[in-house]
Amino acid sequence: MAKTTPRKRSSTKTPVFPSKAKNLDRQLSSQLRSWYLQNKRELPWRQSRDPYRIWISEVMLQQTTTQAVIPYYQRFLQRFPTVKSLADASEKDVLAQWAGLGYYSRARNLHKAAKILATTGFPKTAEELLELPGFGPYTSRAVSSLAFGENVGVLDGNVIRILSRVLGKKYEWWQNKDRAHLQTFADELAQHGDSSEINQGMMELGATICTPQSPSCFLCPWNKNCEARARGLQTELPLRKPKTASIYLMWSVEWTMKGQKVAFLKTHDAPFLKKSPLLPGSFQRLNQRPEKFDLKHTITKYEIFMQIKKSPLKSTGLSQPKNLLWLDVSKITEEIPYSLIHKVVQRALDQKS
Ligand code: ADE
Repeated sequence: MAKTTPRKRSSTKTPVFPSKAKNLDRQLSSQLRSWYLQNKRELPWRQSRDPYRIWISEVMLQQTTTQAVIPYYQRFLQRFPTVKSLADASEKDVLAQWAGLGYYSRARNLHKAAKILATTGFPKTAEELLELPGFGPYTSRAVSSLAFGENVGVLDGNVIRILSRVLGKKYEWWQNKDRAHLQTFADELAQHGDSSEINQGMMELGATICTPQSPSCFLCPWNKNCEARARGLQTELPLRKPKTASIYLMWSVEWTMKGQKVAFLKTHDAPFLKKSPLLPGSFQRLNQRPEKFDLKHTITKYEIFMQIKKSPLKSTGLSQPKNLLWLDVSKITEEIPYSLIHKVVQRALDQKS
């Protein structure tokens, strides 16, 4: 996603809402805030306004659902309770705490940014936070508003949905122009009151009431103002982003053991897990999903189908001994924090030889 500079508060900007809706942004903010204060879920990251804790939760929440994040969040903060403890940790340790959440580049960026923040402290505006590794428009705004009360709005999937619906507009939210329009509207809402409560109210409304498939409109604080509801367009909005085609790969894994040690390649030319040692094997690009495979895993646009073959030591895949790394089978999960590898190891060990 392209980085955009957060909009500063401005009274001269034309409001996103049509003229009939004079003051509607003020009304929506107020309705949302009251509703949020009465209905918010007790979540661990809502117990303080510590920017470090808020930052960690927001990055994790970009990976998976709230319920799935809670144990990761608690474990991560127990292990790294302060930005300094995260900065001082080894990358291996950080990745190990992240294992299972996916998108490991996010964990690497957390670590890089922690090293900077441990010396500079947290800047208080989204504009400054945006300069840090891994801080895009969403994370910068979430941290500056939730921790420091900066009047900037957040825009994520939940917010795109609730705003597209309340405005009743067919925004092509994946296009810069429409996205900017939604961002401006979110910013307008965040001007009226505590932006932490308004932004979390938007996230909460999207997560609990204005859900993708069957929104509970009768419980919604915006139901009288909602254009989508008035026109019965709730499930048509927001528009769905056109899908980019998946790339299907067959990975024939050569599982090779010497005693308790498993052969890995230190470097490889697979299009994924480029920074990690990988099990040896060969790749084939496919035109369609195969019928026969042992395991499947998706990494971004790659749908990886795997067949696991137990190979003898002299296998051709292992012809460059300098590039080999022998890892003790009991240490693999610790050494290589990628769930794709963990899946293959588990399956290979389960398979009868
Ligand atoms: N999703 C993203 N950020 C969130 C937050 N702070 N609380 C609940 N759900 C969220």
